[in-house]
Amino acid sequence: MNSCLKLVVSVAVFHLLASCGVDSEDHYMLQENPLMVPAIDASEQFPGGETTSHSITKASFISPISNISDSVKTDFYAGRALAQQPWIKAPTITNARDGLGPLYNARTCLACHANGGRGKAPRDNSEVLLSTLVRLSIPGYDEMYGVIPEPHYGDQIQSQSIALSHQLRTFVTAEQLKHKEVAAEAYPYLTWQESTFVYPDGKVVGLSQPKVKLNQLAYGKLHPETLIALRVSPPLLGLGLLEAIEQVTIEELVDPNDENKDGISGRINKVWDFQLNKAVPGRFGLKANRPNLLNLTAAAFANDIGISNPLFPDQSCTKFQSLCNATPNGNDAEKGLPADTGHPAVELSHTLLKLATDFVSQIAVPVKRGHNEPNVQEGRNKFYATGCQSCHQPSYVTGKSNNKALSEQKIWPYSDLLLHDMGPALADGRADYLATGSEWRTAPLWGVGLTKEVNGNQNFLHDGRAETIEQAILWHGGEAELVKQRFVQLSNKERLQLIAFVESL
Ligand code: HEC
Ligand code: HEC
Repeated sequence: MNSCLKLVVSVAVFHLLASCGVDSEDHYMLQENPLMVPAIDASEQFPGGETTSHSITKASFISPISNISDSVKTDFYAGRALAQQPWIKAPTITNARDGLGPLYNARTCLACHANGGRGKAPRDNSEVLLSTLVRLSIPGYDEMYGVIPEPHYGDQIQSQSIALSHQLRTFVTAEQLKHKEVAAEAYPYLTWQESTFVYPDGKVVGLSQPKVKLNQLAYGKLHPETLIALRVSPPLLGLGLLEAIEQVTIEELVDPNDENKDGISGRINKVWDFQLNKAVPGRFGLKANRPNLLNLTAAAFANDIGISNPLFPDQSCTKFQSLCNATPNGNDAEKGLPADTGHPAVELSHTLLKLATDFVSQIAVPVKRGHNEPNVQEGRNKFYATGCQSCHQPSYVTGKSNNKALSEQKIWPYSDLLLHDMGPALADGRADYLATGSEWRTAPLWGVGLTKEVNGNQNFLHDGRAETIEQAILWHGGEAELVKQRFVQLSNKERLQLIAFVESL
């Protein structure tokens, strides 16, 4: 990514040339103050533009955008209810909220995205993983699905099932369950590998890295080449604003061959749109493997909760899971699209899918805290001087959206929404569409400082390994190595200032 070019708007060309140096041997130079710091913009304090919410509470990441109209607000709360009321097993008399599973991960969206925030990667290795996903695949590429699913288990471990014994938490073994009721696929746990990082000034920081352990695999051994990847649920704030950024704006940030030689490239994933039935650029998900919020919400209903819908009409069973396939589902012809579209009966109608998607896309971004504090402003200088903004692209103006409230807003998400190679320590080795095993989408930083308020715990990065902002930065490698080194070489006071700035976002 071209951090220098991105500052063109606000910085004189003379400074750019002076500050973005590559030495004669083509090595990246570690300079005293290599990047220019733009002047503070008054709008930084309101990261969601006119949509910004002004109250900070535990519910900050499930609150509606401030400029929502009263009529739309009713739908927002209806969509929110859909995301937080539990689904139940089919069949039921009412038919409205049945179809859970047969295999699933959670009964509601907000069970994982707790309060609209993050999931938890438990440090206790006897605690079964609940608000996270364990993704599986075998080597290979598929234009439609992005990966080749593990043959017996599919592309994620579903750790829950509608089996009565499972529901009653009697935890009979999978072997006992297998022939009578649909067994949960496996119980995932984490084990942690500890290490330490030592700054040049001698300060020591503990780091830990999780490894997934799958207990009680119920459907036989995994394929010998299975790739296993852990994902912690990311927060849901501000996603409609990110969706409203025009694709051309993101394309301008791309530098796949690192032509400006700043060590930072930035690529766009190419993924399948299950509504349009064609390959399109990816934007959402930790490897940018979904094109938009409708596709993502539909995939989450189908794969995480086991609720079939017009975009993903199948049940969450592989062809080897015969009991799963034979279990009654909650499909209803009236919920499918009109018969002439060729879409089968499903458990969630397009109308309700849209309602849940509209809820997700209209969650507000809270106001920045400590905007005028000298410590935070000093930290802001350090953020730019080290080059964090090369990937954590500070601001955009959204395009004209169908939703007027999200249109033409000046926003401050701190992400270029592009894929970056983050080095071997963060790699999961599992490609997803065009994203390699070591590429991740730049995490938006708005709201990170409210994680504790919203979630109680803090689990940063794709697998939740970092419990503090400092740990998250220290895990940065690959394209971010040079920038991390600049951070490491700051004084302890300056590092704390930079962190205070990130926490104010
Ligand atoms: C079992 C836990 C779980 C459940 C249930 C779940 N999610 Fe997620 N969600 C995740 C994880 C993990 C990711 C990241 C997945 C990835 O990128 O591979 C994610 C990603 C997302 C994203 C992408 C955010 C971004 O920054 O791009 C959205 C939006 C989302 N989920 C919405 C939903 C909705 C809506 C529902 C309910 C229909 C739901 N999720 C249910 C765990 C869950
Ligand atoms: C080369 C691009 C790049 C640079 C430079 C970079 N980051 Fe990141 N950052 C990322 C990516 C990609 C992720 C997501 C990684 C993951 O999930 O494993 C991330 C994640 C983070 C997170 C965790 C956020 C979350 O929601 O989990 C924080 C905090 C963060 N970066 C801060 C910084 C700071 C501060 C700097 C400057 C010192 C910086 N980053 C520089 C690309 C970058």
